[in-house]
Amino acid sequence: MKILVTGGGGREHAIIAALKKSPKVSEINAAPGNGGIASLAACRDIKATDIPGVVALADEIKPDWVFVAPDDPLVLGAVDALNAAGFKTFGPRKAAAELEGSKVFSKNFMSRHGIPTAAYKTFTDAKKAVDYIKAAGSFPAVIKCDGLALGKGVIIAENLAEAEKAVKDILKGGRFGDSGKEIVVEEYLDGAEVTVLAFTDGKTVIPMPAAADHKRALDGDGGLNTGGMGVIAPAPYYTKEIAAECMEKIFLPTVKGMADEGRAFKGCLYFGLALTGSGVKVIEYNCRFGDPEAQTILPLLETDLTDIMEAVWEERLSALEIRFSPEKAVCVVMASGGYPERYETGFPITGLDCAGELSGVRVFHAGTRKEGGAYVTAGGRVLGVTGVADDLETALSKAYEAVGKIKFEKAFYRKDIGKKALSLIG
Ligand code: AMP
Ligand code: GLY
Repeated sequence: MKILVTGGGGREHAIIAALKKSPKVSEINAAPGNGGIASLAACRDIKATDIPGVVALADEIKPDWVFVAPDDPLVLGAVDALNAAGFKTFGPRKAAAELEGSKVFSKNFMSRHGIPTAAYKTFTDAKKAVDYIKAAGSFPAVIKCDGLALGKGVIIAENLAEAEKAVKDILKGGRFGDSGKEIVVEEYLDGAEVTVLAFTDGKTVIPMPAAADHKRALDGDGGLNTGGMGVIAPAPYYTKEIAAECMEKIFLPTVKGMADEGRAFKGCLYFGLALTGSGVKVIEYNCRFGDPEAQTILPLLETDLTDIMEAVWEERLSALEIRFSPEKAVCVVMASGGYPERYETGFPITGLDCAGELSGVRVFHAGTRKEGGAYVTAGGRVLGVTGVADDLETALSKAYEAVGKIKFEKAFYRKDIGKKALSLIG
């Protein structure tokens, strides 16, 4: 089997590492890939969002499968274009990716189908939005851009002044361009956050082990929101009872609702959930694997990923048993100083071999590039260092031992990944 994977971050490295384990896979190509991916796949310098370029590349290499991994090409319709050109794909079509591509669509969808989520209203007019926030008088208030905004389109306003500024920056100042032509204003959800990724073929939903991401840049959940600084899985507070509630009230109604609306979702569906005092509520949907959730969960996947891709494509997921190792996994992200704001790149990275040789450790590259045989930093999130063990404590110490061996100038990482979870399980 020949596979083309589009994207070039840590998530894609983890997907490619999982595909590489399959005895059926003979060749992997990546567009564009990254420094680490280059050791597993042939990397071609074509952006995942360059859809005509990706289709032309597929025409040239004739893969059996194209795995479209990132959100933006999915939302732009990469899967539709590849299918039209005769290629089998893993990932939702454009109409299904709308669940992530438009927050207005996803909120209205949840409301149509009675799926629990934060109370909300949508606005295109700044004055009406501010009047609504004033009248509600409840803070923090959550303001979200409709479209994709590189993970920065959510503002949690602590008071009216902050809310007013956010609304005006987005609707009047064009801070997020077209993504911010419309906004969602919603209730703040209080409670632990958990991510559940699920394989779905449009009918059946198979959740993976629940994950807990750490989205803020700094220890103690301080600093700015990032794409994710570290993940543990499974999340210890996601009990069997909560899982059953999610399946009944959220996962199945979502998949059925999308199919009923002619937007069957096939691929990996990401449920961002808040465990609130009044039940589990959806914070957001994403139409793809999370990053660094993929680097944490995929190392636990025991079933051949290509078997899952086939079952999803052929809509026979109900007949497939998907197995995960009962072990615990932790991914710690090493980032460039300054991320998620301005940062420098091009610093040499040392210690990768030493770290990668530790048992139960995998080092996934996110923002790296190969220069004359050595790796240098090339992005905000540079590496995802994953430790796997029978218990969370050991998984954490493995990941941090490996992190300690890797050096690059201005590197930073959170030192408290999994700390809260560990305190919960004693
Ligand atoms: P999103 O892009 O919708 O995932 O939002 C990014 C992050 O903002 C989430 O992971 C949450 O931590 C936070 N967030 C979003 N919506 C809410 C909400 N209604 N209440 C509390 N936190 C939220
Ligand atoms: N780690 C959060 C995300 O992938 O959206």
